[in-house]
Amino acid sequence: TANSAALSGVAGQATASVGDSAPLTILYGSQTGNAKGVATLIKTQAEARGLTTKLVNMADYKPANLKKEKFLVIAVSTYGDGEPPEDAEALHEFLVSKKAPKLAGVKQAVIGLGDTSYEFFCQTAKDFEARLGALGAEIAVPRIDLDVDYEAQAQEWITQALDVFEPELKAQQTGGGNVISMPFGMPEPVASQYTKQNPFAAELNVVQKITGRNSSKDVRHIEISLEGSDITYQPGDSLGVYFLNDPQEVAAILEVLNLDKAQTVKVGDLTVSVETALIEHLELTQSYPGFVEKYAIATGNEELSALANDKAALRAYIEERQIFDVIKQNPANIEAQALVDCCRKLQARLYSIASSQAEVEEEVHLTVGLVEFDAFGEKHFGGCSGYLANRAEEGAKVKVFSEHNDNFRLPSDNTTPVIMVGPGTGIAPFRAFLQEREARDAEGENWLFFGNPHFTEDFLYQVEIQKYVKSGLLTHVDLAFSRDQAEKIYVQDRLREKGEAVFAWLEKGAHFYVCGDATRMAKDVHQALIDIIKTHGGKDDEQAEQYLKALRSANRYQKDVY
Ligand code: 2AM
Repeated sequence: TANSAALSGVAGQATASVGDSAPLTILYGSQTGNAKGVATLIKTQAEARGLTTKLVNMADYKPANLKKEKFLVIAVSTYGDGEPPEDAEALHEFLVSKKAPKLAGVKQAVIGLGDTSYEFFCQTAKDFEARLGALGAEIAVPRIDLDVDYEAQAQEWITQALDVFEPELKAQQTGGGNVISMPFGMPEPVASQYTKQNPFAAELNVVQKITGRNSSKDVRHIEISLEGSDITYQPGDSLGVYFLNDPQEVAAILEVLNLDKAQTVKVGDLTVSVETALIEHLELTQSYPGFVEKYAIATGNEELSALANDKAALRAYIEERQIFDVIKQNPANIEAQALVDCCRKLQARLYSIASSQAEVEEEVHLTVGLVEFDAFGEKHFGGCSGYLANRAEEGAKVKVFSEHNDNFRLPSDNTTPVIMVGPGTGIAPFRAFLQEREARDAEGENWLFFGNPHFTEDFLYQVEIQKYVKSGLLTHVDLAFSRDQAEKIYVQDRLREKGEAVFAWLEKGAHFYVCGDATRMAKDVHQALIDIIKTHGGKDDEQAEQYLKALRSANRYQKDVY
């Protein structure tokens, strides 16, 4: 039957058409899981309306199937410089390739997730809509581009989209009653009751500076207790951390605005003092265009309004300023509630987890780089890193939740070798990997590439790494201390030096992991890999790209970059 044929397909992939009618196909490309969450919501609500759906991770979707689609919903996030999440890369590229089919007769709807603090906000969603459109797909529901605080608007859009698709899907259903449930992926781990919306107040046990006195960086090793919660995590997962804004900065803006800190305001359903709202609930560090636009209007500031209308100038303006600065430099008469309404809700920051529960049990460790810079004659700090490093006392309660990341996982086979490239705080998940491999008594070889400015100041987790070398858990360690000599040396230079062995490891089945800076490092490491495969594998450019693509499809080339 159609059902059993569909069920025998690979994970998430429908292989048989369902009756004569096309399902609502929902493709998602997710980096941290938000787009997947939205896609799952669409599926659940579509099925509640009796619609047949097919929910597929873009990474598992056969692009050749596109021409069979009639109703296509795309939920996709954007990261870094307007780039697609890794799972979306192949499909994103396919749509502009010569192989892309004509899509006349396909109806599309795209929902984008992003962050307006970044210049290329929701670029991937824009690309998908445009590329599908160029192939002939009709826009059934206009695309929506959502900021970090997306939940309510996502729900509105889903309802609107399903109102459009429901009659069309029902009209074309000949047999009807085709609700099938598609298998997709591995069973999800049991979800914690603690989530982004309902975080756990965890005790902060340790905040320890692990860079030297003369370092150009301030990196903190953080230990948090999960005792009393049901939160679990796996190496590769992230921890979401909420924080409090600096009360002194909050006092400063209340003063320039002449506001009484006790004045009550509403933030969503909460009624709190404006002081509490600003310290606990609103984003005041990471700036984004929406704030300047709203604040300009709310305060009748003509200069700011003019700026808000010039995209490039606005971008430059917010890049140099935190929201605190924008307010301090633009004092105004504004009601407390109007100020609150200019702000967006404070978002948790996500950090790659630096521990394995096999080793630390009910704790979770992080490696946090303190964001700091001078501007307008004052020291500025990042919201969450500043809180953890400067204000949170050990013993404080910090609100946290764990975020699963199935795109960054150790091999399930303990004999598989792994290569880990993690300069700077990119070391974090590899500390977790090493703890886990040790606890599993994994026989597979482990090779770490680490880099930072100076050996004496910035060798994060030096003692642990040396212990692992001694015990034999780490087969090789290659270090790139960029500023210890006249010429810069980076992890990708070390990779190239060891190119022959790196290629041999890939040939014998190694998994390759990269964590850290997305804009430069991860790209340079990618290029180094290409060069290594060319040189030591005797391949040309295209074959080398193919080789890496195949690694990626086999989940043997994974990135956690930011
Ligand atoms: P630098 O600051 O001396 O240039 C962690 O931040 C390490 O990554 C530092 O040693 C830093 O060197 C280095 N780094 C900077 N740009 C890089 C790049 N494009 N690729 C790899 N490492 C880089």
